[in-house]
Amino acid sequence: MEELELLISKEEINRKVEELAEKLKSEYKGKNPVFIGVLKGAFVFLADLIRRMDMPLEVDFIWVSSYGSSKESSGEIKVIAEPSTDLRGRDVVIIEDILDTGLSLKEIVDYMKGKGVKSVKICVLLDKRERRKVDIEADYVGFSIPDRFIVGYGIDYAEKFRNLEGIWALKD
Ligand code: IMP
Ligand code: MG
Repeated sequence: MEELELLISKEEINRKVEELAEKLKSEYKGKNPVFIGVLKGAFVFLADLIRRMDMPLEVDFIWVSSYGSSKESSGEIKVIAEPSTDLRGRDVVIIEDILDTGLSLKEIVDYMKGKGVKSVKICVLLDKRERRKVDIEADYVGFSIPDRFIVGYGIDYAEKFRNLEGIWALKD
């Protein structure tokens, strides 16, 4: 059984999600944006975020795989399931759990541009800046975190721990 260490409590997450929702609300008021959650890790974050935004918006998902069941990215990003929304001319906000090497988000941004979106921005809960391999930044960042392996709040290790309320680091 893996040992876990609490990094960010559920109260801290709540405050941060509220803050991000306020910022997104003022940027997207009147624009009916499409929030695209990156499966599976972002589903809890997305669900919390949109319930703090009392304005018209739509939700869809993209499912990409890069990690398989290991802790290191293979660097090969595959789109497993595409959004069903017609994204042409839409204001898209990509909602992601963790920005790590940046390879997945780079691929996803390129995918959105290929669909002819009007605009695309990135909102991530966690940013591991020191791990970046490609030149990409998020427009909205919850927490910058050190290079630790994270679980909880939707984020898994080999499909486990998604149901934890806080954000935890695996002890190595
Ligand atoms: P990137 O392509 O390297 O930026 O990888 C981003 C994806 O890798 C995220 O969407 C996560 O699914 C996964 N990932 C990165 N770091 C972690 C972690 O610490 N725990 C669990 N998944 C992670
Ligand atoms: Mg992910």
